[in-house]
Amino acid sequence: MELNPFSWEFHEDPHPTYRWLRDHAPIYRNHAMDFWAISRFQDVMGAFLDWQTYSSVGGLILEKLDPAHLELTPMMIFMDPPRHDRLRKLVSRVFTPRRVAALEPFVRTLARKLLEPLAAEGGGDFVEDFSTPLPMDVIFTLLGVPGSDRRQLREWIDLSLSRDAGTDAVPARAIEAGLNALRYWFQFVQHLRAHPNDGLICDLFDAEIEDDGGGTTRLTDGEIVGFCSLLGAAGSETTTRLLGFAAVLFARHSDQFASIVADRDRIPGAVEEVLRWASPAQYAVRTVKRDVEWYGQTVPAESRILLLAGAANRDEREYPDPDRFDITRGIPTQLGLGQGVHYCLGASLARLEARVALDEFGRTFPRFAVDETGCERVHMSNVHGYERVPFHRI
Ligand code: HEM
Repeated sequence: MELNPFSWEFHEDPHPTYRWLRDHAPIYRNHAMDFWAISRFQDVMGAFLDWQTYSSVGGLILEKLDPAHLELTPMMIFMDPPRHDRLRKLVSRVFTPRRVAALEPFVRTLARKLLEPLAAEGGGDFVEDFSTPLPMDVIFTLLGVPGSDRRQLREWIDLSLSRDAGTDAVPARAIEAGLNALRYWFQFVQHLRAHPNDGLICDLFDAEIEDDGGGTTRLTDGEIVGFCSLLGAAGSETTTRLLGFAAVLFARHSDQFASIVADRDRIPGAVEEVLRWASPAQYAVRTVKRDVEWYGQTVPAESRILLLAGAANRDEREYPDPDRFDITRGIPTQLGLGQGVHYCLGASLARLEARVALDEFGRTFPRFAVDETGCERVHMSNVHGYERVPFHRI
């Protein structure tokens, strides 16, 4: 059995591969693509927590990223402490559970507005018409991106993540789109410097950050663009995919959908179960900083290793009958949002968006069906999910 994260069959259903890995190759080596992988819950959890051994410098996907880009727009997701922690502190107060809870009326209004035309039509495309624009509008509003620029920017972000079947080579269209998005963000930051507002990005202009010598510096435009780029992509892509999975799962399990429509207090548990079952962020790559032993094998320093959160979330050693979708499981913990120092900054926001989206969707479409033959998958590196989910009222 081979783990090829770029194979389209793997995007369609990674779980037979994951089961094999957990049972027969809990430390797995792919010689051709030069990476290692761990898949059991306790192993993946341990590696997420041990940033000293499993470094994020070098990126969290397998593809070789252009070092010039990384240098131009440094991002905390590609850093280890202490620099990571200093940058994260600058934005974390915007994403605390309390600050995020205050966004609920705004998210709800957006969701209702998006559902209006779908209600009139009796259906549409769940992803294109609902789960794409909702998180995009939320994060772009927080960042202050003008409404007229959002669709184009989102298209560039999507395209920059797209991959060809079977290969880890980044296609020219993805590089081009990534550059377009970066150009946009640089102009955006320059515009904000000239015309400041009271948003999240302008707060970063004055923020002081400790440097390694103990002094303080201000962020460069490149570092601020790094934040825009990271938040813009992380804040929209995965929530879109999570909700797309939710639509497909709830159409398959209409009894469980009926139960959340009847009792909205069940929605948060349902969101956790979709995150566990589907894991839109399937894995994070780390670089091993010293030789480590796994199941009698030595993984040498500087190796790249996949922390397979998607496999860990279906580990029968942790979850009974893990392939069963069951919103009443009451999961104490899962790895869909990572763990440790890089634990998803937007966790509260993602949960709020998902809860409100499912609530409002259920009010508008208490019974619905998905045409699974019309569903289409995205083909990205570590993000799995749908780009088309046609549905209609029943
Ligand atoms: C269902 C939706 C989401 C999923 C599945 C998800 C998943 C993840 C995962 C697995 C990580 C850890 C990556 C690693 O360890 O290398 C992460 C980090 C991150 N996420 Fe999310 N995320 C979601 C939504 C969001 C949203 C809405 C935001 C918006 C603020 C966001 C912003 C971030 C940022 C900035 C990081 C990097 C944190 C750091 O490096 O300290 N995410 N996310």
